[in-house]
Parts: sequence; structure tokens; C-alpha cells
Amino acid sequence: MRSKIVAGNWKMNKNYKETKVLVKEIKKSIKRLPLDNTRVIIAPTFVNLSIATKRAEKSAIEVVAQNMHQATNGAYTGEVSAEMLKSIGVNTVILGHSERRTLFGETDKILTEKVNAALENELEIIFCFGELLEDRKSDKHFEVVKSQLENALFHLDALAWNHIVLAYEPVWAIGTGETATPEQAQEMHAFIRKLLQEKYTTVVADNTSILYGGSVKPTNAEEIFSKEDVDGGLIGGASLKVEDFTAIIKAI
Ligand code: 13P
Repeated sequence: MRSKIVAGNWKMNKNYKETKVLVKEIKKSIKRLPLDNTRVIIAPTFVNLSIATKRAEKSAIEVVAQNMHQATNGAYTGEVSAEMLKSIGVNTVILGHSERRTLFGETDKILTEKVNAALENELEIIFCFGELLEDRKSDKHFEVVKSQLENALFHLDALAWNHIVLAYEPVWAIGTGETATPEQAQEMHAFIRKLLQEKYTTVVADNTSILYGGSVKPTNAEEIFSKEDVDGGLIGGASLKVEDFTAIIKAI
């Protein structure tokens, strides 16, 4: 079901103690906010998912994972499976983040396997994708985004889309301080929704939440979120400070 979402991707930040502190601070600061149809999500590192989940109890905060392995179990040193996430009460996983693609070699094929494994284990997916700067400069951004979605998600049936949230993150805007303009975000989100309509149905297109990610800050969040097809944000750096994260939640 389409909802407004503000999700904080903590990446490789916050140790055990810092995680407890930040969850507590967010819990306190959003307590009296009228969240209505807005989901507040945080994605700490694997080692801190358990404590974050415990500390987020009795609050609106949902704790999700940043990644998972596609296999059920076995000889995959250093990896974490979908079933393991479920077993500690994590129900959502971020897949396809550009850092996973570029730094850890995750291809569309690997992502397809991860998507399938997540859905088999009844995990919701926040699926990230987005073009590189050279793609945009050479006017290939629509083509690139289309192929990322087609390659990893378009084998799914319409029902599976009840468990998918999309996060458009132009790589050139991640951690750079350079944000897509609200118009650029809207243009791409509308394009994505049209793809969903053509491949599936208007219902799937209308019910899928599409988030924008890439240097979202308290100063630009409201304008980006005001766009018709932008349902919220996937926030990196600004999700690590309670004041900034709260201000972004308020902007939605
Ligand atoms: P920044 O908000 O730090 O640019 O990171 C965006 C991001 O990668 C969220 O997943």
C-alpha cells in the first residue's frame, strides 16, 4: 500500500552504544508528531539490528536491514540470510544500494536472486537504483533506470509489488551535497510510475511508494517531498543526527 516514508540508511555508522542513544533520541522526538500515513524507518548495521529493534519497541520506528545474502544458509562466511533477519523481528531489507553495486560488485543478476530470496522469506524490499553522472550527462538516465528495474524486478507478478518500495537514488547525488532538483526527481518518479503502469496495472503504479535519495537535508526535504510522485526519502548522512532526521520527517 502506498504510504509516505522517511527512511534513514545509517550505512556503516554508529556503534552499539551510539545506536542505543540515537534510537532513544528519535523515539522521543517523533513521539508527539502526527505521523498519520507516514512510516519512519531506520537501517542500522547488522550487529546493531537486534538492539535497535528492542529499543524501538512501542514506537513508530521500524528497524530494517541494509542488505542480506541470497542463500538460505551455508558456507558464506560473513553473510546474513533473510531468514536470520526475520528471526530477530526485521521485516524489511534494503537491496540494490549503489554502494553495494559499485563497492561490492552486486549485479542485476545477484539482485534478482536477493529479491527472490527476500520475497520467499516474506521480507518487504526497499529497492534502490539510479544512474551515474555520466549516464545523466549523456542523457541515458531514463534508459539506465528502466533496465535496472526490468532486470531485477520485472519478472515479479503484480501481487509481489505489495512488498516492494522503490528508492530512486541518482548516484551523483549520494553523499555529494548535490541534490537532484525537485523537478528532476519528479520527472524520474513519474517515468517510473508510468513503467509500472505499462508493465503491470494502474493499481500497481498508484500503490507503489517511490522514495528519493541523495543529499536530502532539512533545507531541501520539503520541496522534494511536495512533488506529486515523490512519496518520501531514503536519507543517508542527515539520518544520523536526530535534529536533522526529525526535521526531514516533519517536512513530509
Ligand atoms: P546521503 O543522504 O548521505 O546523500 O545518502 C543517500 C543514500 O545513499 C541513502 O541510501
